[in-house]
Amino acid sequence: MPNTAQDLHQGVASCASSLCHGATKPLGEHPIRQDEYFVWQRQDSHARAYQTLYSPASRKIGQALGINAETAPACLSCHSDAPIASARGARYQLSDGIGCENCHGGSERWLAEHARPGITLEQKVALGMKPTWQRETRAALCLSCHQGDAQRSITHAMMAAGHPRLVFELDTFTALEPPHHNRDADYAARKGAYQPARDWITGQTQAAELHLQALADGRFMKGLMPEWTEFDCTACHHSMDAGRWQPERMPGAEPGAVPFADAPQQLLGLWLTVMAPPEALAWLEGQRRLHVAQGQGVDAVRAAAQQQLVLLRTGLRPLIAGESMNPAQLRGLLRALVTDGPHRQAPLSGEQRAMALTVISDALHLQGASVPLAARRAIESYYKAVRKIDRFDVKEHARALDAVARTLPAG
Ligand code: HEC
Ligand code: HEC
Ligand code: HEC
Ligand code: HEC
Repeated sequence: MPNTAQDLHQGVASCASSLCHGATKPLGEHPIRQDEYFVWQRQDSHARAYQTLYSPASRKIGQALGINAETAPACLSCHSDAPIASARGARYQLSDGIGCENCHGGSERWLAEHARPGITLEQKVALGMKPTWQRETRAALCLSCHQGDAQRSITHAMMAAGHPRLVFELDTFTALEPPHHNRDADYAARKGAYQPARDWITGQTQAAELHLQALADGRFMKGLMPEWTEFDCTACHHSMDAGRWQPERMPGAEPGAVPFADAPQQLLGLWLTVMAPPEALAWLEGQRRLHVAQGQGVDAVRAAAQQQLVLLRTGLRPLIAGESMNPAQLRGLLRALVTDGPHRQAPLSGEQRAMALTVISDALHLQGASVPLAARRAIESYYKAVRKIDRFDVKEHARALDAVARTLPAG
């Protein structure tokens, strides 16, 4: 892929003409809607991400951290399109927030070309357009901000100062954004069919990779203490008689060890138990080694995380990219989500399980296999049980999950 960091960002104004992407409703003349700017500007919170830094909440966060939220790179990195200084074109504006080119790539080389009849997707990518239609690219793009990566990081200090906890699931958040493309037959022919279960596992894999990478390069250590965002928030933020600690929570670790923020690794493990049992064993063993390493020191954690990363990148990524699930496998995964898994007690994985149950039900529905209405309702109640993580109740959670299990079709 070409190095696109140098490409000029020409600003949202360059895309927003009513003849291009600024129509007020889908035009129906081209395969694309052409109202993308309108949807983004009216409905997509990315358009307001920079203004957010001027809000009272941001001011409070900034004051607590001793920085100016409106100008601090620590905030701008995720709340604006912030290319290197030499890549800011004449119509580039910081106040555009997270604009078109933040996701689609600096348009210097493709702006004039991309609407040319007959141009292929490959040609657009060669001109620096980011292939957002590929799910791996999309997952990396969204999670670079919604979880943070080596360039953009959210810290426990920011959260203690008032920043919301970050939650993400690729399929759910794509629907919430909302998307500005139609997932119709024409789109499928041009860019590939909509497959929620594949989007889901690709998002989990990317999230697991980012987390392991942070552990492997030691970025998570900060003075005397680790950077707590790499750990399960609810491990510390609950009362002492909550009954949270369970030997199954973090196999291999001693009682009361602070669990990692490893919901994606757990869900990836469940996917593997359904789709590739031998790889599941290797993956779960690697997770156990990582947990044991936590009692041994930073170098041991780095080494164990590095080993899991190698397995993920070389062994699992190709497998995951190549598999799509049939209805029997989707049903197996639904069942695994409510029954298996050693981590039924953990609120953060509960939140991810709830979103996964919905996504996988949708995937079954798209394949013509019905999910009983009672199951949909039970999933909804389960989601309510996990939603308020501060008031998370272990028993209520288990009951809600068992209720989902009872409504699922056998097999
Ligand atoms: C450059 C960083 C960045 C990228 C890339 C990014 N986001 Fe966001 N996203 C944000 C920020 C910051 C907000 C909060 C905006 C605000 O309210 O100020 C946000 C908000 C959202 C929201 C609204 C959340 C809510 O609780 O209302 C959704 C949904 C969302 N993003 C989905 C996505 C998806 C899907 C992708 C990938 C296609 C993506 N984002 C890519 C930074 C980013
Ligand atoms: C790693 C990326 C990242 C960084 C760094 C970051 N944010 Fe955010 N911020 C987000 C995302 C993503 C959201 C949306 C969360 C959601 O709703 O899911 C958000 C939401 C917010 C919100 C709530 C917005 C709303 O509409 O409720 C405020 C306020 C905020 N950020 C301020 C800041 C400030 C101030 C800084 C710098 C200290 C900062 N952020 C740094 C990614 C980031
Ligand atoms: C938060 C990331 C994000 C932002 C910001 C964003 N897009 Fe998109 N856009 C996407 C994703 C994801 C898709 C769906 C995958 C694809 O088709 O590339 C998409 C698809 C599109 C498509 C293709 C539709 C089709 O049917 O093929 C167009 C055109 C488009 N966006 C234009 C824009 C314009 C114009 C803006 C700015 C006003 C914008 N986008 C802002 C992420 C974003
Ligand atoms: C290893 C333990 C630990 C983990 C994990 C942890 N925190 Fe904290 N958190 C603390 C401590 C200690 C304080 C300071 C509280 C005090 O002074 O009593 C704190 C303070 C806070 C505060 C300020 C409110 C308060 O009660 O003081 C927020 C908000 C917060 N944390 C959010 C989070 C989020 C979100 C996560 C997960 C991303 C997280 N924490 C992970 C230990 C932790």
